[in-house]
Amino acid sequence: PPLHTLLNLDEIEAAAKTQVSKKCWAYYFSAGDDLFSKYYNGSVFRSILLRPRVFVDCTTTSTATTLLGHKVGTPLYVSPAAMARLAHPDGEAGIAKGISSFGAMQLISNNASQTPEQIVADATPGAIFGWQLYVQTTRSKSEAMLARINKLPQFKSIVLTLDAPHPGKREHDEKSNLEAQLVVDSASNDKSSDEKRPGGGGVGQQLFWGTAADLTWDTTIPWIRKHTSLPIVLKGIQTHEDAYLTARYARAHPGSIRAIILSNHGGRALDTAPPAVHTLLEIRKYCPEVFDTIEVWIDGGIKRGTDVVKALCLGAKAVGVGRAALWGLGAGGWQGVERTFEILQGEIETCLKLLGVKTVAELGPRFINTRMVERD
Ligand code: FNR
Repeated sequence: PPLHTLLNLDEIEAAAKTQVSKKCWAYYFSAGDDLFSKYYNGSVFRSILLRPRVFVDCTTTSTATTLLGHKVGTPLYVSPAAMARLAHPDGEAGIAKGISSFGAMQLISNNASQTPEQIVADATPGAIFGWQLYVQTTRSKSEAMLARINKLPQFKSIVLTLDAPHPGKREHDEKSNLEAQLVVDSASNDKSSDEKRPGGGGVGQQLFWGTAADLTWDTTIPWIRKHTSLPIVLKGIQTHEDAYLTARYARAHPGSIRAIILSNHGGRALDTAPPAVHTLLEIRKYCPEVFDTIEVWIDGGIKRGTDVVKALCLGAKAVGVGRAALWGLGAGGWQGVERTFEILQGEIETCLKLLGVKTVAELGPRFINTRMVERD
């Protein structure tokens, strides 16, 4: 169907399903075990109610904000997700093109299907990117990658993903295995080489090959600092304890970690791990000072503009979409991504107006009722 007839993200996903290969669908759709966390990521937003105020002039609204000190047109960003070219030849560069008119940030996966140089080649002036790092067991490979990123001024952060030291058990993906060769050829990171990669296990397991599982507080951040001066973002924080430890580290080492992403990897790592909403509520309760020390970004299950606004009300500074961008790409290449962002941005603006809010900076807990989630 023509893209303009698709009115919400479920319709985009359904359209993508008819366009992409079975393997691509299985890889993107899949999540750990029973997909509980994947679905709960989305449904938890339905348990938070909005509290609209009246008599507010909302003729004009703005979603502009800053992330790590850089201006962006919207708090909505693209989460790092591997292998965009499985969905469409436009790939990660197509996602960049699709979101360019919204001034949104894009995080590029360590396992992107295009190189970082290709992705930023045609980037719009002012567009900002982050590079997601899966530290490799052969550290020199990651060091070489960081050296390449340091040379590309569009990259403003290194996003260290911590929630997947081991691949989750993703049965949809395992059932529809992909030829190892495609993965090796497509990975932007240096995954080539003579290492013998085991066959089977799905795309996720294939891509995971070579990823380090021995990262710790003591060694990892100092090592990254040695190889880049870019701000570090920790992705995959799922408890208030780890949020607290990150903020404590950030205070003790200024200029190191500048943000955390509350995420359960779209439910793809540990099934029944909490959605970001629960972690946001925990942080508000036990260590609210975290919000003053580092930026808190979230992702997982975003389907509607109201989901984004609710996360902002709980203290998130930015809200990411993983699958939504990939499904947009699958549904219609870069124009499909543009349509996806048009829908979400439109919904965010409608939500702000109906809430009685002019800018995202005004959002706060007074605009939501979380009683139903806190009872869970
Ligand atoms: C991911 N995600 C991910 N995260 C990461 O840090 N590095 C990666 O390479 C990938 N790869 C990846 C592939 C695919 C197909 C998906 C769906 C996801 C996780 C991603 O960044 C994000 O946390 C989730 O996708 C957010 O959930 P939603 O928006 O997909 O519900």
